[in-house]
Amino acid sequence: MCELEVRGGRRLEGTLVIQGSKNSALPIMAATLLLDGETVLKDCPDILDVHEMLAIINGVGGCDGGSCRFTGEGLRLLHNKVDGVPDYESCMRFRASSILMGALLATAGFFAMPYPGGCRIGRRPIDYHIEGLRALGAEVEEKDGMLIGYAGRLKGGYYRFPYPSVGALENLILASVKGKGEYLFENCSKEPEIVDLCDFLMRAGADIEGTGTDTIRIKGVEKLNGIQYRVPGDRIVAGTYMAACGITGGNIRLRNIESARLEGVIEVLKKTGCHVFTDAGNDEIIILSDGRRKAVSSIETAPYPGFPTDMQPQMMALAAFSTGSCRIVDKVFESRYRTAEELKKLGADVRTDGGSVIITGSERLHGGAVRAADLRCGAALVIAALGIYGKTIIEDCGYIMRGYEDIQRDLEELGADILWRIKEESTGN
Ligand code: UD1
Repeated sequence: MCELEVRGGRRLEGTLVIQGSKNSALPIMAATLLLDGETVLKDCPDILDVHEMLAIINGVGGCDGGSCRFTGEGLRLLHNKVDGVPDYESCMRFRASSILMGALLATAGFFAMPYPGGCRIGRRPIDYHIEGLRALGAEVEEKDGMLIGYAGRLKGGYYRFPYPSVGALENLILASVKGKGEYLFENCSKEPEIVDLCDFLMRAGADIEGTGTDTIRIKGVEKLNGIQYRVPGDRIVAGTYMAACGITGGNIRLRNIESARLEGVIEVLKKTGCHVFTDAGNDEIIILSDGRRKAVSSIETAPYPGFPTDMQPQMMALAAFSTGSCRIVDKVFESRYRTAEELKKLGADVRTDGGSVIITGSERLHGGAVRAADLRCGAALVIAALGIYGKTIIEDCGYIMRGYEDIQRDLEELGADILWRIKEESTGN
């Protein structure tokens, strides 16, 4: 088990280049199963979730010995004949394996995989994925914890999402871009990662209209070709470091990040008293903070362009240091409040009332030991620890490696005192 040891109390100063986006890279990797010829993904983040996806698609893509791999140029992906049965254990531990359903239907014509596992952030059903694929003409059965789907070449169809779902839309897009006929999807997610997936597919030859709006139209094409593509910077990683600077005070410059993707986060940070300067032409954000924070009265998460659920735990950390109270409501994942319980262990003033968390800033936070309950909870606890004079240990930090290339390297670069530690697991003997 790995831990991070943080000795807080230092201002953050310096420049960081933000890694490529996890949530853009994963569906794009699945999309390469549909392409003829080699694809090279530049700036693909070197994170655990990308390696999980790589192992699965090397398995289904007929690439004995792994012809999909990181090289000096980027992540190279080339597939032979695609098989519809991804590795069972990998799918069980990796939530984003669910976005392979659409790509496998479109290439192998079938899939058989277990219900996906992954980060524990509340109920994460996949009913829209299944209903949506059925609406396009696929047969999907659920049997003994397995999902089994069949389809010949899809012939067109319509699906209206009951609620915008990023993963379900990715599946339907991947299922239909190489189908016959026309496809219409309504009440779609507008997240930048959807735009990135469509941008990638269009450059490879797909015919897609309406990305970034709530209505997407697709005309199926016969063939898609391998391309070179640069994965854009990760807005949640950038947002995490911006919130960290809000907590510690300081002056940081983030490069390789489109500020338009972070508008909701920037708006909230400005209300807390941070100064944020954006240079859209150069994909740069500068954040200045004197470390005196005012609480924003309420933060509610919502599908994009609303406040991202993946930034909510980091905002809880910031609120724990601010003057006043902040009510946080996660409207996307209704029970994503485990960070609150961990912050309490560090002395934060936290009240939960079922559907929301109220955090009142306090000067009495102290070091201690906390546990990363999931990826963003882990990141939130690390940035909270940066604001505490004294030592904090964050246990179970493997979760953080799912989405951050090296949070220790990045924060150390900005002047933090932070250390990875590998802890021997007790065997019980
Ligand atoms: C993706 C992101 C995740 C982010 C989330 C919301 C990836 C790999 N993960 O997750 O980081 O937090 O979007 O921005 O890109 N829902 C259903 N039925 C379904 C599908 C979803 O009820 O079949 C509900 C979910 O429970 C949730 C909401 O829809 O309440 C949105 O979830 P969704 O957008 O699907 O999240 P993911 O794609 O899993």
